[in-house]
Amino acid sequence: MNPGPGLLDGRVAVVTGAANGLGRAYARRLAERGASVVVADLDEEGAQHVAAGIGREGGTAMAVPVDVGDGALVEAMATAAAARFGRIDILVNNAAIFLTVGMSRVPFDEISIAEWDRMMAVNVRGTWLACRAVVPHMRRQGYGKILNVSSDTALKGSPNRIHYVASKSAVLGFTRTLAAELGPSGIRVNAIAPGIVLSEPEPTEARYAQATAGQVLPAALVSDDLADTVVFLVSPASDPITGQVVAVNGGGYM
Ligand SMILES: NC(=O)c1ccc[n+]([C@@H]2O[C@H](COP(=O)([O-])OP(=O)(O)OC[C@H]3O[C@@H](n4cnc5c(N)ncnc54)[C@H](O)[C@@H]3O)[C@@H](O)[C@H]2O)c1
Repeated sequence: MNPGPGLLDGRVAVVTGAANGLGRAYARRLAERGASVVVADLDEEGAQHVAAGIGREGGTAMAVPVDVGDGALVEAMATAAAARFGRIDILVNNAAIFLTVGMSRVPFDEISIAEWDRMMAVNVRGTWLACRAVVPHMRRQGYGKILNVSSDTALKGSPNRIHYVASKSAVLGFTRTLAAELGPSGIRVNAIAPGIVLSEPEPTEARYAQATAGQVLPAALVSDDLADTVVFLVSPASDPITGQVVAVNGGGYM
């Protein structure tokens, strides 16, 4: 899939968790396609670095520090985005407790209550808070695209991180329900469910085998694979699609 440059010209995109990993790849790709991008993250320095890099490459971006679990900060993020760019067309709810902000990988009864609650506060409440903050802008425009990031672990289960998998499962029901509520306002809400994405530039053979185990396609997923799907799902090319979950997982779960 190569939607081509300019597909998102004039659009304003907020990407949460865009200072690192996949969110950074999404921010860069959306900017390449013409969107003005709000790089929102808990990691303020990382967000500034990503926004500056986009600027150096000829794109438009601003960094906004945010904890998506904090309602006031999330409102401030949307206000800052609208103040700078005048509108908000796209929200990618990518921020999560996952790698950069890590989690315990232990049996279900060894997770602390505090860690369970923080997981839900960031991965689930954060998704809701960000939608709540940007939807008024989208409603005024009569159009908007929201893309929530789930995980294919939510489709097939995955041991020793039940709080994470439960949070990503919640994102699926959230997506379908919000799509039903916002469809009449012209706002589309979809989700992606990535499989294991290789972030190492030179993975060991063992790591490659682990990443592709269970896939029907032999190639491991890399961030570019996800970024092109993200562009499609936030662009007008996908306007008839809402309430859907797209598994980008090499056929690991069908
Ligand atoms: N990498 C994979 O293999 C994979 C697979 C399935 C799903 N995912 C999902 O994709 C998304 C990105 O994954 P990644 O691999 O880039 O992980 P990552 O941990 O590197 O990136 C997450 C980003 O979110 C930010 N963040 C964490 N808590 C935050 C908060 N409270 N407020 C604002 N920002 C916060 C982090 O600073 C980081 O920049 C996550 O939602 C993850 O669950 C990733």
